[in-house]
Amino acid sequence: MNEPAQIIVFGATGDLARRKLYPALAHLAEDGHLKHASLIGVSRRPRTDDEFASTVRESAGDLAHHLEGLPIAYVSADVTDEASMKALCDRLDAMPGGAKAGRLFYLSLAPSLFASAVEGLAAVGLIHQHEEEKEAWRRVVVEKPFGHDLPSARALNAELHEHLREEQLYRIDHYLGKETVQNLLGFRFHNAIFEPLFNRHHVELVQITQSEPLGMEGRGAFYEEVGALRDVVQNHLLQVLTLVAMEPPVSLEPEAIRGHKVDVLRALRVMSPEDVERDTVRGQYVASEGKAGYLEEEGVSADSSTETFVAVRAQIDSWRWAGVPFLLRHGKQLPRKLTEVQIQFRTPALQLFNRPEGMSQSELRRKLEAGELCARRPNVLTLGIQPREGIQLSFGMKRPGPAMIMQPAELDFDYEETFGSQFAPAYERLILDAMRGDPTLFLRADEAEAAWEWTDAIRDGWAGGASPMRTYPAGSWGPEECHELFRGCEGGWTRGPRG
Ligand code: BG6
Repeated sequence: MNEPAQIIVFGATGDLARRKLYPALAHLAEDGHLKHASLIGVSRRPRTDDEFASTVRESAGDLAHHLEGLPIAYVSADVTDEASMKALCDRLDAMPGGAKAGRLFYLSLAPSLFASAVEGLAAVGLIHQHEEEKEAWRRVVVEKPFGHDLPSARALNAELHEHLREEQLYRIDHYLGKETVQNLLGFRFHNAIFEPLFNRHHVELVQITQSEPLGMEGRGAFYEEVGALRDVVQNHLLQVLTLVAMEPPVSLEPEAIRGHKVDVLRALRVMSPEDVERDTVRGQYVASEGKAGYLEEEGVSADSSTETFVAVRAQIDSWRWAGVPFLLRHGKQLPRKLTEVQIQFRTPALQLFNRPEGMSQSELRRKLEAGELCARRPNVLTLGIQPREGIQLSFGMKRPGPAMIMQPAELDFDYEETFGSQFAPAYERLILDAMRGDPTLFLRADEAEAAWEWTDAIRDGWAGGASPMRTYPAGSWGPEECHELFRGCEGGWTRGPRG
C-alpha cells in the first residue's frame, strides 16, 4: 500500500486480535505492505500506547521486529459513549495521514456490539455512506458470526446499511483466506480438463469434511449458544461448497464471483422436517478414553442439547448438480484435524474389469441395480485443504500379470513439496484485501442471508424433534448413523490421507 492507511482494531485486547490479527499484521509488515500504515487499538480498558504496543509485539512473537517503525496507539473508548468516540476521532486525526488516510475499522467484538459500534462511528462522523471523491476510503470489517439466524442477519444487515454502503462492508469468513480454499477456484477454472467433469453427468457424490480433535478448550459457554451447525457448517463448509459448485465466472471481478456463489446458496434445497429426519445426523461427544464428554465441559449445562457433530446430505437444485448428494460433516473431538473435499466420479458405463468370476455383464448390471452388489468407483479427486495441502486423483491401473485386474493408483500433488511451507496465514490475505478494497473473499449481505435460510430449516427441523441427538465417544468419527447418508452410493466418509 503506497497511501497512508489507519488500521483501527476494536476489541484490541481480545483473544482474536492477539491470536490472529497482530501476527497477521506482522506478516504484512514483513512483506512491506504496512510502510504507510498505523495501528490504533480500541477497547474499553484503560491502557497506555506503550502497554498496547507491548501486547501487539508479544502477540507477534518471532515476527515482532517487523513491526518496528509501525506507529501504534491506543484509545480507551466505549462505542456507545460519544465523548470517548470523539476522543478516538481526534486521535486518528493526529495519526499519520490524519483524515486523509484510508481507515479500516476492524470490529473484533462480541456480535451483539457490531451494530452499536457502527452507529457510534457514524455518530462522530468517522464513517458515512457517501465518501466524497476528495476523501479517503472508510471500510468496516465484521467478524463472524454474522447473526445467529436469518432474521438476526437481516436485521444486522439493515442496521449496518443505515450507515455504510455494501461496498464498505467486509464480512469475514477466515476459510476464504486459506490458500487451498482459494485454489478451488484456480484449480477448477484454469485447468480445462477438470471443469467439464464437474457436473451431475460425471460426479456421483461430493463430500466435504472438517474435523477437529479438540473439545471446548474453555469455549464451552460460547459453544452452548452456537453448536456445530452454526459454528462451522453454516459458514466455513458452505463457503467451500460454493467454490466447488459455482458456475464459471466471466471474470475475476468480485461481483462476478460473489454473484455465482450466492446462486449456489440459493439453489441449496431448503429442507422440510422429513428431509431433516432423513438427511441430517447430529451428535454430542461422550466421555471416552480419558477425554471428558461435552456435558462435563466447563460452561456447558448438564442437560445441554447443543450438537458437537453434524452431518448433512445436501442437495443443490441447479442444472449442473441436480441429484448429486453433497455430504457435509463437521465435529469436535474427532480423531484428527482434517479439512478435505472429495469428488467421487461415476463408475464406468460398463464394468469390464474386476467382475466377480463367471458373472456376465447383464447379471452384474441386474445385481448392481437391485443393490445386491456395489461397484467400486475408481476415480476420486481429493482436494486437501488442511493440514495436508494437496490434490490427489485416484484411478485404476492394470496390475502387472496375466490377468486383467485393475487396482487403485494415485496421482499426488503436495503443496509443500512444490511451494515450501511458507503459506500466508488466512488473516494476512484478508486484511490486505480489505485495505486494497477487494471484497472478493468476503461475504456479501445476500450471501450471509442465503446461508442462514438453509441452516435455519435444519435447526427448525431439529427443534421439532427430527433426527434425534445421537452420541459418539470422544475421539471417534462421530455417530454410526452418519454412514446412512451414503445410501445409494458406494464409499464412506473420508478419514484423511493417513486413512
Ligand atoms: C472457527 C470456529 O470459526 O473455526 C471454531 O469458531 C473452529 O470452533 C475453527 O475450531 C476452525 O478453523 P480452522 O481454520 O482451524 O479449521
